[in-house]
Formats: sequence, structure tokens, C-alpha cells
Amino acid sequence: MDEFNFDEIIDRRNTYSVKYAALKTLFGREDITPLWVADMEFRSPKCVRDILEKYVQSGIYGYDTEPPQMKPVIAQWELQEHGWKVDCDWISFIPGIVRGIGLAVNFFTEPGDKVVVQSPVYHPFTNVPLGNGRKVLRNPVKDGRMDLDHLESLLKAEGPVKMLILCNPHNPGGYIWSRGELESLAEICRRHGVLVISDEIHADLSLWGNRNICFASVSEAAAENSITFGAPSKTFNIPGFASSFSIIPNPELAQPFYKWLSANEFNCPSIFASLGMIAAFTEAKPWRDAAVKYIEGNILHLEEKFSAFRAGGEQLIEPVRPQSSYLVWLDCRNLLRRLAGRDGLKPEDQTLLEDYFVNKVKVGMNTGVMFGPEGLGHMRLNAACPRSLLDFELPEV
Ligand SMILES: Cc1ncc(COP(=O)(O)O)c(C=O)c1O
Repeated sequence: MDEFNFDEIIDRRNTYSVKYAALKTLFGREDITPLWVADMEFRSPKCVRDILEKYVQSGIYGYDTEPPQMKPVIAQWELQEHGWKVDCDWISFIPGIVRGIGLAVNFFTEPGDKVVVQSPVYHPFTNVPLGNGRKVLRNPVKDGRMDLDHLESLLKAEGPVKMLILCNPHNPGGYIWSRGELESLAEICRRHGVLVISDEIHADLSLWGNRNICFASVSEAAAENSITFGAPSKTFNIPGFASSFSIIPNPELAQPFYKWLSANEFNCPSIFASLGMIAAFTEAKPWRDAAVKYIEGNILHLEEKFSAFRAGGEQLIEPVRPQSSYLVWLDCRNLLRRLAGRDGLKPEDQTLLEDYFVNKVKVGMNTGVMFGPEGLGHMRLNAACPRSLLDFELPEV
């Protein structure tokens, strides 16, 4: 079995994979290609499988301890991949990033407090604060860039605001924020007393030679006033282990938060989470590099396919080329205008797009509006799959 053979089709039906198990519920049919939830159709790196198989073979699954090398391995990874020098005392295990956001929202804000998100954005950024009785304010992304003027006026008008959840790099769209954007964001948030949660789960899958910038590394304002969440889960396709970490340089934030995590044992990794992370970060860089190259090939393949899908002289689906990760944001507004038979799109038109992809193209993608109202006329496609799965036909409209 060649671990770099990303063309291999692996049958994941009946394996409890949500990507397949939820098809009927979400899309109304099972005979479609699932290109939605953000995990890969690739087998995880061999080094990860080997260490876990060895553990499973031991046959005794008792209480375990956090391996002492885990935090140094995380610190080394941040330094080598992002040039960010992290002290091990700043690090804690957290059981998944969405849960980490939930923990931070509960610990650092009160019911009724305001939280800013930059929409369209990964939906739990909105749902977690809302589900915990917080208010969510939107600072929409403008043409793939951060709208800092709008943020400043939002904070002036709506303050006090307690928290901003940053997607770094951004999902959907795969935008890598510039150093200037991150520095200005840090400055604005410090001035307005807004704690920044930087979700860097997609940071290690930069494409086309890009490099993501860790928010906390850009300035003192950023380091003093932020919590970074990172994980090997997207990069090495191990999200099922809920293996994540937080990095907090400011002891005034870290100490009370980590004390609370510890009191509730939220900071205790399962052995799958810790061993998987250590193996991935120490041995699986060649696998990651090969996966990135393959994903780039898939994106080029999609671009070619969509460029040929035209009507009335216009391209109907414009993919936004991601700078990072494997989620391709498809601007389908031209297609939707044709389906709806009008220029001005209405929120209810989105179902026409969903219906086209599920029932005509036979692929299951994330609908754009789940990331915020700005997602109208968009879909999100997961391109971390064998290239042959992207060979779907696009019926004429
Ligand atoms: C930006 C972002 N954060 C977090 C997650 C999920 O992280 P976890 O599974 O660790 O909760 C995803 C998954 O798609 C994501 O895109």
C-alpha cells in the first residue's frame, strides 16, 4: 500500500463516517459524491497508523498520561512551520477546536456579551456563542480581505465587545491574512478590549508556496491579547481524535483558563489524540507536502472544469483559488441568476443551487448560506479526495 497514492478510492460507507452516514438526512439521497464536511478521503500517514496499531495491539486500554514530549513537539512544529517561538508553558491540550471555542466563550465572556465573527465563516464561530446565549456581530469579509474600517466602526457603535473569533487562515475562501491585516486587527482589538481567539486549524496546509502567519506572533498587542488554537487534525486527516491545543503567551489569560481546564479535566488527551499528534508532527511532514501537491492538482483540475462551464458568454461557476487548505469556495452567482431567472438574488433562491448540485450534478457540498448570509450564491467544495471524484458532469442550464 503506497501511502502517497492519493488516487486510491477508499470505501468509507458503513464506517460511521459522518460524511457518508448523514447523506440521506442532509441531502435527501445517498447516491451522490460527498464533497462536504472537512475531512480528507486520504488514509492518514503511515507513522500515525503504526503507532496507534501498536497501542491497540497491546490489548490493555487503561488510564494513560500525557506523553512528556507532546508540548515540546508542538512548540517545535510552530517554530519550524511558522517561525513562531513558543514556550511550552503557554501550551495546553484541548479536546477539539470547536470545543475549545466553547470553553473560551464560557470562560472569558458572560451571557449577553458580544462576540464578533468575520462572515462568511465556519458556522460554529456563530453557533457556539449563540448557543451559549452570547450575541454575535458580523464584520463581513470584503473581496477576500479583512474590512478593518468596518470593524473599527462596529466596535465603536456596539462596544463593549468581549471577543473576536478569527479564522486564520479563513474558511471558507482559504484566504491567508497579510501581516499588515493581522497587526492592524491586533491593534484595534487591544484598543477596544476585545480578546482575539485565533483558530489556526488550517494553518499547516498552505498552498502554492504560501506560509500562514500566526496571529500571536505579529506584535506584542497580538501576543498579549489572544488565544491561539491549533491542531494536526486537518493537516494529517485525524480530526476524529479531537487532538488540539491552545497557545496563550499572556500568563494573565493562560493561568486562570488553564487552571479551570485542569479542574474539569478538559486538558487531558486520549492516548489516540496525543500519540497521533506526536507521530504526525514529528514524522509526517513528507506526507503533508505530498498531500498539498495533490490538492493543488485537484484545484487546477476544478478550475479547468469550471472555466469550460459557460452560458451566454459568461462563466457560471467561479472558484476562488484557496491560498490554504482544501476547501474551494465556489462563486455560483452567475449560475444561480440563470436558475432563478433574475438578476437580484433572494435568500430563498439558494435552494435552486442546492437542488442543482444534489439532484443534477449528484454531489453533496456545503451550501454557502450556512456560513452567513454573505454566502448567498456560493457553495463550498472539499477537494481533498481522489481526483476521479471530481470528474462529475455539469448539466447545462
Ligand atoms: C476553521 C475550523 N475550525 C475548526 C474546525 C473543526 O475543528 P474540531 O474538529 O477540532 O472541532 C473546522 C472544521 O472544518 C474548521 O474549518
